Amino acid sequence: MEWALDRMDLSRVRRLLDVGCGGGGPLSQLSASTEGTDFVALDLSRDMLRMTGKVNRRLREQGRLQQVRGSVTALPFADDSFDAVLACETTYFWPDIGKNLKECRRVLNDNGRLFLVQETWDAPQWKDRNKSWEKGFRMTFHSLEGYRELLMGAGFREVRTHTDDKKGWFVMEAEGRGD
Ligand SMILES: C[S@@+](CC[C@H](N)C(=O)[O-])C[C@H]1O[C@@H](n2cnc3c(N)ncnc32)[C@H](O)[C@@H]1O
Repeated sequence: MEWALDRMDLSRVRRLLDVGCGGGGPLSQLSASTEGTDFVALDLSRDMLRMTGKVNRRLREQGRLQQVRGSVTALPFADDSFDAVLACETTYFWPDIGKNLKECRRVLNDNGRLFLVQETWDAPQWKDRNKSWEKGFRMTFHSLEGYRELLMGAGFREVRTHTDDKKGWFVMEAEGRGD
């Protein structure tokens, strides 16, 4: 996340949705480098949401964090609700990534950005590692080009990609409306 944050422009973000927030670690790091931003943390799991609240207690006390139980398949927010959506280490588990990315695009405003942060993608050098994760955790991976096409197909107009080819990490920043 530290590596990713150095590559993410959060300067104009006033309201951010963290989809699949898990235990709240990424949100805690991200909020340390943003001021005046409000956050909504969403996850399928009540336990994870509880942990997010604990880890980000200061944000909660400041009234800057809302925890919402839900799924990326039907985000419980109006169109144009956010300046940014963070999806960190979660798309692997989504039931229909193409449709689900469209749902993320829907809740973003015209200038909004989606940040995909992941520690792997589908590529020959990560095949063995990915295979064991796919089997053990029912994860699905796409190639970098595949993620880019999925983002464009979801209605984004521009996608920028940063990778660490040794570690297999990437950040994709998608913005604009393609329609
Ligand atoms: C590997 S964890 C990552 C958590 C956190 N983003 C992080 O990077 O530490 C994946 C999270 O995605 C959540 N998740 C899986 N499917 C989801 C869905 N359809 N909608 C929302 N969250 C989902 C899981 O409950 C889990 O908390």
